[in-house]
Amino acid sequence: MVGSFDMVDVIRSKRDGERLTDDQIAWVIDAYTRGDVGDEQMAALAMAIFLRGLDRTETARWTEAMIDSGERMSFADLGKRTTDKHSTGGVGDKITLPLAPLVASYGVAVPQLSGRGLGHTGGTLDKLESIPGWRADLSNEEFLAALRGVGAVVCAAGASLAPADRKLYALRDVTATVDSIPLIASSIMSKKIAEGTQALTLDVKVGSGAFMKDLDAARELAGAMVDLGHDAGVRTVALLTDMSTPLGRTVGNALEVRESVEVLAGGGPADVVELTCELARSMLALAGIEDADVQERLRDGRAMDSWRAMVRAQGGDPDGALPVAAHTQDVLAESDGVLTRLDALAVGVASWRLGAGRARKEDPVQLAAGIELHAKPGERVRAGQPLLTLHTDTPERFDRAHATLAGAIDIDPETPDGTGAPGSVVLGRIEQPTG
Ligand code: URA
Repeated sequence: MVGSFDMVDVIRSKRDGERLTDDQIAWVIDAYTRGDVGDEQMAALAMAIFLRGLDRTETARWTEAMIDSGERMSFADLGKRTTDKHSTGGVGDKITLPLAPLVASYGVAVPQLSGRGLGHTGGTLDKLESIPGWRADLSNEEFLAALRGVGAVVCAAGASLAPADRKLYALRDVTATVDSIPLIASSIMSKKIAEGTQALTLDVKVGSGAFMKDLDAARELAGAMVDLGHDAGVRTVALLTDMSTPLGRTVGNALEVRESVEVLAGGGPADVVELTCELARSMLALAGIEDADVQERLRDGRAMDSWRAMVRAQGGDPDGALPVAAHTQDVLAESDGVLTRLDALAVGVASWRLGAGRARKEDPVQLAAGIELHAKPGERVRAGQPLLTLHTDTPERFDRAHATLAGAIDIDPETPDGTGAPGSVVLGRIEQPTG
């Protein structure tokens, strides 16, 4: 039980660059969750934190207080080790779809509590909902039965996990205080720690389509999250991965499911396969399985069997036809040369404008909307060749999507082939706490 504080004093302390005490933090989060501190005061504190920061101890206390605002799950009685993955969000990031069944095929449990897309990054639940019959809302019994059986479950995070974060995230969204490293780190890690996983691999995206636009900021965020995981007894590793251009060759819900199934069938784009395998190796190593030949499991059908079982366990038909958009339009290359830039953010926003994403969380999404990429940076293209195909059910959306893509594509006639192609999608790795 903590004492009561004057919120104005707490805001003033942080505004003036002072440290918040453990008791102040516990009180603020509890009082805000219960409604005793209003949005206007919490918004002022969030802005003070955005400007002044939180140190490692304050961030750890802030995270603990958010965990304590709700339930904490435990998989101690599951009879399987659990290993989870979290991505900070990117364009074309469908990796959970091939990854969860691939890792589960080794007999470990992958409890993926995922979200819906908001803004230009897609949500895993929206993607899976393009599979006929598939449903995200599982009862606790169904969730545990699927984890014991198939091993991989992707479902909606319940409202009881870190409710303080739910409220605070919505407030940050409308007060320009989302992109603060301690607030992002504590928001993500409070949910992951409350979820009860024993091991966690973080995919921290870097580039135009990500929260973190440069490598130094991404490294700082990754370090803060690895520290929080470590301090809470969760084995945590972070990969820093490229998000300057979309991942794979599809962006949009059903389109991304189709590409994920290609990966599970042993094919698919090289960057999606590379990232799936890197993350799978990390998740397995954290669960005590070293040197797994994950690529072979994509080729020999075992990951696919696991995917089919995972989809069926949640009511989906793995052979069901995926929705197809009623209208398509191509974006053509304007000149001959090497594609040196295809900007992730612009493609993400254009896909969203085509109907694949939502502006408010209650908006519906078009499952078939999105963008297919026919060329990736580093590839040679010819004038007039289709670079992108835009998909939508509502053709009046094409104009805004085209406008968003203006300036997002660079083709250089002089550059040698391969220029602009990211060597590896993995740019760095943080395995140890920072201090
Ligand atoms: N995702 C979260 O869950 N929280 C943030 O603050 C940012 C991204």
